[in-house]
Amino acid sequence: MQTMGDIKVTKATTSKRASVDFKNLSFGKIFTDHMLVAKYSNGSWQSPEIVPYGPISFDPSMATIHYGQSIFEGIKAYRLKTGVEAIFRPYDNFKRFNKSASRMEMPSVPEDIFIGGMKQLLQLEAAWIPEEYDHSLYIRPFMFATDEVIGVNPSTTYTFMIILSPVGPYYAAPMKIYVEEFYVRAVPGGVGFAKTSGNYAASLHPAAVAKKRGYDQILWTDAHEHKYVQECGTMNVFFVIGDKFITPGLETGTILEGVTRDSVIAVATDMGKVVEEREISVDELVDAYKAGLLTEAFGAGTAATIAKIAELRYKDFVMDFDPAQMPLADEIKSILTAIRDGIAPDPRGWMLSIQG
Ligand code: COI
Repeated sequence: MQTMGDIKVTKATTSKRASVDFKNLSFGKIFTDHMLVAKYSNGSWQSPEIVPYGPISFDPSMATIHYGQSIFEGIKAYRLKTGVEAIFRPYDNFKRFNKSASRMEMPSVPEDIFIGGMKQLLQLEAAWIPEEYDHSLYIRPFMFATDEVIGVNPSTTYTFMIILSPVGPYYAAPMKIYVEEFYVRAVPGGVGFAKTSGNYAASLHPAAVAKKRGYDQILWTDAHEHKYVQECGTMNVFFVIGDKFITPGLETGTILEGVTRDSVIAVATDMGKVVEEREISVDELVDAYKAGLLTEAFGAGTAATIAKIAELRYKDFVMDFDPAQMPLADEIKSILTAIRDGIAPDPRGWMLSIQG
């Protein structure tokens, strides 16, 4: 055992890294040699530890399994062309994590554990950060309730962990999506803005129905009228109408406040484009498509990055897009990639070095 910064480290005796084919990574199947674990009880966080990656044990009555008091984040680390290893906008995920924690009646995680712990874990695992285009080391911080009781109450004990996974693109090809008109993801006053496990559990059946119908994902609509679009399964959504970018606004609390979403808005604004964050009805999309004004549609998320939509179906009406003719999505993606590669200016300080 040794101490790295403030954190106790127990090193793995062997590394799995040499057995990993970094050129053929799919999403989230391989994990690095170490993980960070911090426990909360009696109203405070105990010192985190870095330990060899491996299974964790729990009591069958553990609260999370029964009532889903569980939240997570998705962040990526990149190897810049300068050789520096850096994390993309981790403070934004840190803030969102604690917003999710508050909604789920869980304790906040302090910055020294979330950001400090992440940096120290990454320093130990830096060799796992891939170099290939569109590849990164995906960082998954998560927290779950650990009280051993099956009464429905907020837990008094929690575990926070960070695991790391070298990843390639989440969606390998442009997507086919349809507008969902029966199932619902989120309602005002609900938990749509929180990155909580139940949101993803509830999406699995509708997504499985979509797969059976030959689609990759669904585009969620509002719960009352199925009229306004919200987000896709694993990402926010953008449309280019005329020369404006349009994306659903955050005010209803029914969509995730995506860090990639915010990055797209910033980059598009820097490009001199108008970006509107507002309600968008499916009818508006259909009308704009028929008028030849809806020219690009794409998803934006940490895992998905910028994922083009090739087909968007609404009832029997199919909107086809040519992924090779989406110059604005391409430009946004190449600017974001250049910032992550360290070859374009980073005026907002989005990249946080894992050192120091
Ligand atoms: C991410 O983009 O990091 C997400 O959380 C989506 C994920 C569920 C794959």
